[in-house]
Amino acid sequence: MGGTYVTASSPIARSPAGASDRPVGAVARTLGCAVWGLETALVTVEADVANGLPHFAIVGLPDTAVQEARERVRAAIRNAGFEFPLRRVTVNLAPAERRKEGTGFDLPIALAILRATGQLGAEPDGLCLGELALDGALRPVRGAMPRVRRALSAGITRAYVPAGNAGEAAALGAETVPFATLREAVAHFEGTTRIAPVAAPAPAALPRWASDLGDIVGQETPKRALEIAAAGAHNLLLVGPPGTGKTLLARALPSILPPLDPDEAVEASAVHSVAGLIDPAHPLLVARPFRAPHHTASHLALVGGGTPPRPGEVSLAHAGALFLDEFAEYQRQVLETLREPLEEGAITISRAGGAATYPARFVLIAAMNPCPCGHSGDPTTECTCLPDAIERYRGRLSGPVLDRIDLRVHVPRVPYERLRAEDPARERSATVRDRVCAARARMRARGRRTNAELTVADVARHCRLDGAAEPLMAEAMRTRTLSARGYHRVLRVARTAADLEGSERIGPDHLATALLLRALP
Ligand SMILES: Nc1ncnc2c1ncn2[C@@H]1O[C@H](COP(=O)(O)OP(=O)(O)OP(=O)(O)O)[C@@H](O)[C@H]1O
Ligand SMILES: [Mg+2]
Repeated sequence: MGGTYVTASSPIARSPAGASDRPVGAVARTLGCAVWGLETALVTVEADVANGLPHFAIVGLPDTAVQEARERVRAAIRNAGFEFPLRRVTVNLAPAERRKEGTGFDLPIALAILRATGQLGAEPDGLCLGELALDGALRPVRGAMPRVRRALSAGITRAYVPAGNAGEAAALGAETVPFATLREAVAHFEGTTRIAPVAAPAPAALPRWASDLGDIVGQETPKRALEIAAAGAHNLLLVGPPGTGKTLLARALPSILPPLDPDEAVEASAVHSVAGLIDPAHPLLVARPFRAPHHTASHLALVGGGTPPRPGEVSLAHAGALFLDEFAEYQRQVLETLREPLEEGAITISRAGGAATYPARFVLIAAMNPCPCGHSGDPTTECTCLPDAIERYRGRLSGPVLDRIDLRVHVPRVPYERLRAEDPARERSATVRDRVCAARARMRARGRRTNAELTVADVARHCRLDGAAEPLMAEAMRTRTLSARGYHRVLRVARTAADLEGSERIGPDHLATALLLRALP
């Protein structure tokens, strides 16, 4: 639609309510926006009021919620003190080719009808969004952020929204006028009571993390893996007996992740907006999301879907991390669905009304015991599992998903003496985070956000091994039967290890680290 929308083709003279004597043939237009997943399209809401038996139709592929707008709009117009025309009212949502979902069209529909009947003289010159209550109050809607973003990118800088969505719109830089009721909206456009645009909300402070690396005793190798995962966005699997700090380690990840880039912040916040999970006081996310769905979470909760569709955990984790604790307990079929987001960085949910695509680019952190009793390979406690029980347990993991986990480390038991000892030299998360941020800056300078995103061509260009590292690689290829994909993955991780040390060259020690952190089968 390119941002232009047509105003009322033949303006109607304002006159007091009493619609039946108004001229026929005047079409009024307001601007709304449709959203599918994070995809959006501006929608012109046209209202035509013609002589004939009283009738109210909404056309242009409305879903049930939009159809129900008829009842809400009719009641809200009356209860706000206006008159609903006792004539033939047709509302068209153009372009008509895709289904329109949700309740966000109530406000632009009501305003278009009021304008077509001469009860609103002035034209709403911006995006209109909001659900109407029967008494004419405006309720916030899900997905305000992607809609306002669409309007802004089309050059429409003004947004008229329910007060509950005002923060989301203002945070994106739109000139945002908040309305509590339909009456307030009409008074504003008529100029009788102007409402001032709201200021953009102040960004939230970074949260204080519950778990700090400095509080975790020992586990130097898993900590190293966590740092590399945070820096290069490589997926990580932690395997070890119960109570060794796997959950503790995974939960420390947010404390070492770099802050969100501004464009990532908008994208991640837009997903939360569609899910209805925005904090109105601080609509823009400042910290990377960390989502930890339970292993009993449904397929729907994990990948998204439903009617109307909502993003799942994989999308809420976008630009952050997805933590799957007790990894072997998830249903295999649920884990299989991780393949698409792990490969594409997005997930498409197909449904009757058309597909919805949500972004889903996250770092996967998985934790599990090595066997059902948890003690396989534990030198201190004997494993009581039968061999085929262990086999079945590991067999639950999806091979293709496991294949996309670059870092697989053992988390061993920490001896009592070490747990007891104070160690002031233990590194705090803030120090590690600084290194992670510096490494990310090096990655960005190469044109990719993270090393996990390096393409095969990028790997060939940026992950060349130092002369001294070559024999080590040759040896590993021979003894470990690495696949071509495995080879590229080891190189990406080695690149991250080098970046964390500020080294452009990938030496034997960097490669050794990458190989060591992939040691588990
Ligand atoms: N390395 C460690 N340093 C400090 N505390 C630890 C460490 N490992 C375990 N703990 C203590 O033990 C508790 C349990 O650790 P955690 O839940 O991370 O274990 P886990 O490996 O996830 O066990 P499970 O396999 O049963 O899930 C922690 O809350 C912490 O108090
Ligand atoms: Mg645990």
